[in-house]
Amino acid sequence: MRLKNKVAIITGGGSGIGRATCQRFVEEGARVVVADVNQKGGKETVALLPKGKAIFVKADVSQEDQVKRLIKKAAQTFGKLDILVNNAAAFVFGRVEDTTLEDWNRVLGTNVLGPAWCVKHAVPEMKKAGGGAIVTIGSISSFIAQPDYVPYNTSKSALINMTRCLAMDLAQFNIRANVVCPGVIRTPTLIRLIDEWKMTPEDIQREWGNYHLLKRLGEPREIANAVLFLASDEASFVTGTHLMVDGGYTAH
Ligand SMILES: NC(=O)c1ccc[n+]([C@@H]2O[C@H](COP(=O)([O-])OP(=O)(O)OC[C@H]3O[C@@H](n4cnc5c(N)ncnc54)[C@H](O)[C@@H]3O)[C@@H](O)[C@H]2O)c1
Repeated sequence: MRLKNKVAIITGGGSGIGRATCQRFVEEGARVVVADVNQKGGKETVALLPKGKAIFVKADVSQEDQVKRLIKKAAQTFGKLDILVNNAAAFVFGRVEDTTLEDWNRVLGTNVLGPAWCVKHAVPEMKKAGGGAIVTIGSISSFIAQPDYVPYNTSKSALINMTRCLAMDLAQFNIRANVVCPGVIRTPTLIRLIDEWKMTPEDIQREWGNYHLLKRLGEPREIANAVLFLASDEASFVTGTHLMVDGGYTAH
């Protein structure tokens, strides 16, 4: 049990990588708060977990008042907070010429301000607990250019340096901060995009699969395993860094 007696908040826990992380954390002994703006998905995640191990809290991470309520509810329910996983994201793509103020507010509000609000309000609880671990989900898009991805990639690269700065400021409180950067992962959002863009299995392999050295897409649980490592005491000397979990996508 690598997370025995730990309490974790996982934003975007109602789907994909967030849901797999909730499941993996509970398998390792944690109690989890599934935070999501989507009530249906969040409640479904809780229903997949053993009774008493998880609660759902509806929260939009881009709204500071909702984040404040989320952290309070977590601490009240489980008595403390040890781990924060910043996973929720808005997927806003396009060329810069096509972007609107609304697009930028949505992508920066959820993907950059969201983690900032969550950390701001989680830190006082982690200090009370004697320390903590923050794991934020970045992406291969934190590092590379992709065609027509300007808003999303801008937001994901900001998380790398936000995390380094957090690691510096929070080390004195025994709080570690790291990023996990997935390659292309088979999640409900990806499946929706595949549908929307009318991609065939051959298109998926050519556009995405072949770019990974392992010649396939990743699965949510493969990301959850890396989040688990960074959240656990096994990573006690790891802070201010990122872990690529991308099947070798960025190795070439
Ligand atoms: N799927 C991929 O290929 C891939 C690749 C690299 C990185 N990522 C990153 O992994 C993370 C999870 O992605 P996923 O593919 O599992 O996505 P997903 O869409 O399956 O899940 C995201 C969840 O976040 C929730 N959410 C969205 N906006 C929110 C908000 N403002 N407040 C609270 N919850 C909100 C959604 O309701 C959803 O349940 C994201 O940070 C994403 O950028 C995904």
